[in-house]
Amino acid sequence: MRIDIFTLFPEWFGWFSQQRHVGNVLAAGSKLQCFDYRETTPLGAGQVDDSPYGGGAGMVMRVDVVDRALEDAYGQAGRRPRVIVLTPSGRIFDDSLANELADEPHLALLCGRYEGIDERVREHLADDAISIGRYVLAGGELAAMVVADAVLRKLPGALGHASSAQEESFSEALGGAPEYPHYTRPPSYRGWSVPEILLSGDHAAIRAWRLDRSRERESEGS
Ligand SMILES: C[S@@+](CC[C@H](N)C(=O)[O-])C[C@H]1O[C@@H](n2cnc3c(N)ncnc32)[C@H](O)[C@@H]1O
Repeated sequence: MRIDIFTLFPEWFGWFSQQRHVGNVLAAGSKLQCFDYRETTPLGAGQVDDSPYGGGAGMVMRVDVVDRALEDAYGQAGRRPRVIVLTPSGRIFDDSLANELADEPHLALLCGRYEGIDERVREHLADDAISIGRYVLAGGELAAMVVADAVLRKLPGALGHASSAQEESFSEALGGAPEYPHYTRPPSYRGWSVPEILLSGDHAAIRAWRLDRSRERESEGS
């Protein structure tokens, strides 16, 4: 898989690429590449934004700047990756969307800054608009990392144990419910005990207990 990030802050992704699960999939042949809007902007002096039509506070990233960055990366015609603009007003990112994106061979994530990106990018250049939640970040970089992290950890070889990604919160194995609680040693700490059943060695009973807790969390909406 290849993920391209379009950003004004490519250096943010150096740290991200070094994280173990990301490093694992990159070592296995996937690619994470950054494209700096300022390096391809058709405007002078590295300009990428302008004041909003209709007035109002802040600056808006220009459509011609984003278009040129995409053109420079992929050419004018031909196959483009699935292009996703990151915006608080997009489709909310969740596990099923992460699965959908993990099946794509090539993604391009467009990070905005300032007041956001000219709407014509969403209308004419992007295939999707994705939000990581109903709050506003200063820029799309953290949102791109959230999306890339959730997608890349689903790829073979990302995690130490492949089974970790098969049965976890919101997975099919748990019927889309949150995962059950985990405990480890010591069995008692400050009088807080691990549920007896987990120490019983009765695997069928443990499985049933875990599925019950998972369903309980789902019905509590946690
Ligand atoms: C300060 S925000 C713009 C907010 C915009 N004026 C609004 O009210 O919806 C700048 C950029 O951060 C990114 N961003 C901020 N919050 C986000 C979120 N919840 N999900 C995805 N991207 C987000 C987007 O790329 C956005 O263009």
